[in-house]
Amino acid sequence: MTPQNMAQIHAAAFTDARAWSAAEFASLLDSPYVFASHASQGFALVRVVAGEAELLTIAVHPDHQGQGTGRALMADWMARATHTAGEAFLEVAADNAPACALYAACGFVIAGRRAGYYQRSSAQAVDAWLMRAPLG
Ligand SMILES: CC(C)(COP(=O)(O)OP(=O)(O)OC[C@H]1O[C@@H](n2cnc3c(N)ncnc32)[C@H](O)[C@@H]1OP(=O)(O)O)[C@@H](O)C(=O)NCCC(=O)NCCS
Repeated sequence: MTPQNMAQIHAAAFTDARAWSAAEFASLLDSPYVFASHASQGFALVRVVAGEAELLTIAVHPDHQGQGTGRALMADWMARATHTAGEAFLEVAADNAPACALYAACGFVIAGRRAGYYQRSSAQAVDAWLMRAPLG
């Protein structure tokens, strides 16, 4: 999957947040610390530093959501990250029910909160949950 494909899927999936450009994806993928898990209509981008894996973003095209792709992407990157990391973390908007449910199903638990972290174009800012999960 190219950075262009990733930018297209990201823009389609994140309707209430700034879309990441193809150049941003290309730059992230240039880092030796970043890897991607891919499916035909989705991807996850992960950075591993100092034994901790951070899910930078995950997106499944809206036309293909609810078919198990997100769960498969999570399983793939978490299995790959066990080689270099003992723990994983991520941030998610508290009002993102599908993502919160997906992460909980994958073993993530809430470890912190950033009040008003996500700006919304048409509503009040939303808290971010910091979630963590052991790997391996
Ligand atoms: C979050 C996202 C990646 C899930 O991908 P998906 O392919 O639709 O997920 P799956 O079909 O694999 O579903 C896996 C689990 O996620 C949860 N889930 C998925 N869609 C859901 C929904 N609409 N409502 C509630 N839970 C949902 C469920 O726990 C589900 O397990 P189940 O099928 O056993 O109930 C996808 O919704 C997405 O791209 N959203 C927009 C981008 C985004 O918000 N990314 C996360 C930012 S932190």
